[in-house]
Amino acid sequence: MKLVETVADLKCALSSFGQGKKVGLVPTMGALHDGHASLVKRSVDENDVTVVSVFVNPTQFNDKNDLKNYPRTLDADCKLLERFGADIAFAPSVEEIYPEPDTRLFDFSPLDKVMEGVHRPGHFNGVAQVVSRLFDIVSPDRAYFGEKDFQQLAIIRELVRKYDYHIEIRPCPIVREADGLALSSRNTLLTKEGRQHAPAIHAALAASVDFASTHTVAETVRFVADAMAKDGYLRLEYYEIVDGRTLQPITDWTETDYAVGCIAAYCGEIRLIDNIKYKG
Ligand code: PAF
Repeated sequence: MKLVETVADLKCALSSFGQGKKVGLVPTMGALHDGHASLVKRSVDENDVTVVSVFVNPTQFNDKNDLKNYPRTLDADCKLLERFGADIAFAPSVEEIYPEPDTRLFDFSPLDKVMEGVHRPGHFNGVAQVVSRLFDIVSPDRAYFGEKDFQQLAIIRELVRKYDYHIEIRPCPIVREADGLALSSRNTLLTKEGRQHAPAIHAALAASVDFASTHTVAETVRFVADAMAKDGYLRLEYYEIVDGRTLQPITDWTETDYAVGCIAAYCGEIRLIDNIKYKG
């Protein structure tokens, strides 16, 4: 596997594979885990060349401390990427991705006006800036994103549609620890106590699927909120049951054939997100 840090070296590495090759891109912020490995494996299976970007994108952080504390583990990341067969790791500097400040403003209404869009202002604008930049630099045929970031995935699909990128977006299922905790780079930041409480998020979501079969949407939302309150350590930021396509909250199960519950909760200082499918 080649590790490259500049756009010029990336282009050179890509051209060394020859013309007409299918290229898969796995955008990441590093601190790679088995969830990322599943994206890489899928890309390796489906493409001739797999590029994995490792870039902690400053423009998508609305909290300076969060950006400062975000785990950075490039050596370990490269080992994992080698092991799973990636061809190129692209780990650029901020100046390489943004030679000039990126002032582009994206509007994905109404997808970016709910949930993470409300609680992390500017976050999706930053995601769209970096992902569009990576798409322009790598020109992949396919790009791979995890379903844990459910809203991000919907927004990236919209980015592709709106700006006419000829890129297939491949969603990949959430990978979980044995106790149900969704894999996330942020899990490494959990304290021992936090790590013990974090699986209660998925446990509440999983239990709510059964509950939902005999209860209303509002009752199901309350069921999850009550489970978070009962835990005592977790602090719910939001739980919304939405139409999986429009991301707008639903009030009745009959409103959609694709219903997804999306949660953000603080586990101590660490903010975790997860989701669960009720229908679809
Ligand atoms: O999901 C992530 O890790 C990031 O938001 C992404 C897509 C790599 C953009 O920085």
